[in-house]
Amino acid sequence: EETWVVMKTARAPSNIAVIKYWGKRDEKLILPINSSISVTLDPEHLSATTTVAASPAFEKDRLWLNGKEVSVEGVRYKNCLREMRARATDVVIESSGKVIRKEDWNSLHIHIASENNFPTAAGLASSAAGFACLVYALAQLMGVQEKYEGELTAIARLGSGSACRSLYGGFVEWKMGQEIDGTDSIAVQLAEESHWKDLVIIIAVVSSRQKETSSTSGMQESVKTSPLLKYRAEMEKYDESVRKMQSNRVLMEEVVPKRIVQMEKAIKSMNFTEFAKITCADSNQFHATCLDTSPPIFYLNDTSRKLIGLVERWNRHAGEPQVAYTFDAGPNAVMFAKNKEVAAQLLQRLLYQFPPSADTDISRYVHGDQSILESAGVNSLKDIDSLS
Ligand code: PMV
Repeated sequence: EETWVVMKTARAPSNIAVIKYWGKRDEKLILPINSSISVTLDPEHLSATTTVAASPAFEKDRLWLNGKEVSVEGVRYKNCLREMRARATDVVIESSGKVIRKEDWNSLHIHIASENNFPTAAGLASSAAGFACLVYALAQLMGVQEKYEGELTAIARLGSGSACRSLYGGFVEWKMGQEIDGTDSIAVQLAEESHWKDLVIIIAVVSSRQKETSSTSGMQESVKTSPLLKYRAEMEKYDESVRKMQSNRVLMEEVVPKRIVQMEKAIKSMNFTEFAKITCADSNQFHATCLDTSPPIFYLNDTSRKLIGLVERWNRHAGEPQVAYTFDAGPNAVMFAKNKEVAAQLLQRLLYQFPPSADTDISRYVHGDQSILESAGVNSLKDIDSLS
């Protein structure tokens, strides 16, 4: 019997939405009710590393997350694996010259081992990095070439919606698309990593505890019950019952489509004032939508709200935005500082308000130039919530 194994390892960063995706129009294909825009983080600080392997000795597909074996039977993993197998090509193993035929991939089992270098499911988009990384690693292993640009992002989307945005660096838009099969619901890069050099991202890890409401069930409930979400996103186009209910209403323009256009412009022209205004507003409306859901969903906590207050006061005092904040499905803040000087000040203020204990490593949570850490004179920060 043959004994060989082929492996590939990839690393993919997490991404943070500045225009939020919240709500699906198709649960199976993970098609959103609005487009979204995100910033891909530096893989040094927040990323997933995934190794995929294939061997005739493997008896079934298996998956390990952070060293613990978990089921690969979930529909999201199955969908990603099925779509990748369908696109596999002949692959030559370099060391031995052995050829794995295209059709062999249907019967070859895959082992997947994935690790995050940050807290899982604490609202820091761990599934985004994980599925982006899985799809990319499988593409390497199976010799998959995109037939159209963004094809791999559409497969990562089947794993986790936000994952499609993690296949590109820099600033990325997930276009909601119109097709019923989801082929045009893909991510596109708006600007490269190097585009906006002044911008510094700082992540305040408020709590690394797992969130109580998963984004999947949270957004399902919001779609069902939140009137605010209908105002926010393009829901009625897809929901017959909502359309009927509102047929004698003047058709209003939804919030997000406008913001998408404004945000694209702000990013392309590096207009921090606009970028900050839209980023904060969209985070706040997303959390308002959660509160507007029945029963209400709370992702922010008192520390999150203190951080919002700190930034709002600072910006008002400065006359124009210096810092922007955004929160995903958890209490952790992602903050954008206008430039390095502002970032250093922000760190000082954070450390003054939330004094860290000496034994933890803050550098893991700061994205950007290390000199900022030094100028702020710190090298440690714990979960803010566990400090006082
Ligand atoms: O892709 P999911 O199921 O992890 O949902 C992500 C939802 C938010 O993080 C709250 C918003 C976003 O666009 O990333």
